[in-house]
Amino acid sequence: MLDFNYGEYSAINPRQGWLSTTSGTTGPIVSDPVTAPATGGAGMSIILVGLMGAGKTKVGRLLAQRLEMPFTDADDEIVKAAGCSIEEIFERFGETAFRDGERRVVARLLDGEPMVVATGGGAFIDIGTRARIKDRGISVWLRAELDVLVQRTSRRGGRPLLKNRDIKATLEKLMAERYPIYAEADIVVDSGWHSVDITVQRIHDALAAFDEPAPAGGESGR
Ligand code: S3P
Repeated sequence: MLDFNYGEYSAINPRQGWLSTTSGTTGPIVSDPVTAPATGGAGMSIILVGLMGAGKTKVGRLLAQRLEMPFTDADDEIVKAAGCSIEEIFERFGETAFRDGERRVVARLLDGEPMVVATGGGAFIDIGTRARIKDRGISVWLRAELDVLVQRTSRRGGRPLLKNRDIKATLEKLMAERYPIYAEADIVVDSGWHSVDITVQRIHDALAAFDEPAPAGGESGR
């Protein structure tokens, strides 16, 4: 059995712990209006979800810099916790064991200090991981077209779900299965052919508007 060393389970709830100041008032922990999401979302973790190749890690890193928050890639944490690569986890223990470890690692990350987290493509699809993300953070779906995903995933291997498969057909199938679920994210932003900076700016704007009623037909979610 795969023994994930996923760390201490902290009892801090960022919704309560980080939004409260010592004087008992609430407010964002970063006050710079240019970089901070000036809403009730400030002080919460921001979780990037979406299919393989959507740009979660790249966008996440830049977004974290922009918001002056720490950044963590959940897949990297899983690899550290398991002591072997994702491919190896899938091969030796199977996808169910991977999802189980992923669920625990994401839960541990969300119980820590507020941060930007890039998740693996299947994390938000797992019902338990999704519930945790919805409870503890602001989820952002990086939505991308098939051609974008195909081009980006062709650049690097190490993805067991795409190994020895027709990448385009597999991604197309995953889009059909997963897009209705990703659509439950708090914020939806297109991650297309444009630059990462533009995607980050769009997320930043959506976070700033997070507590305001979403305009009809806008990119922002609920
Ligand atoms: C997966 C996506 C991968 C990784 C694993 C499973 C998925 O992460 O977690 O191979 O189910 O879509 P990326 O989305 O970062 O490639």
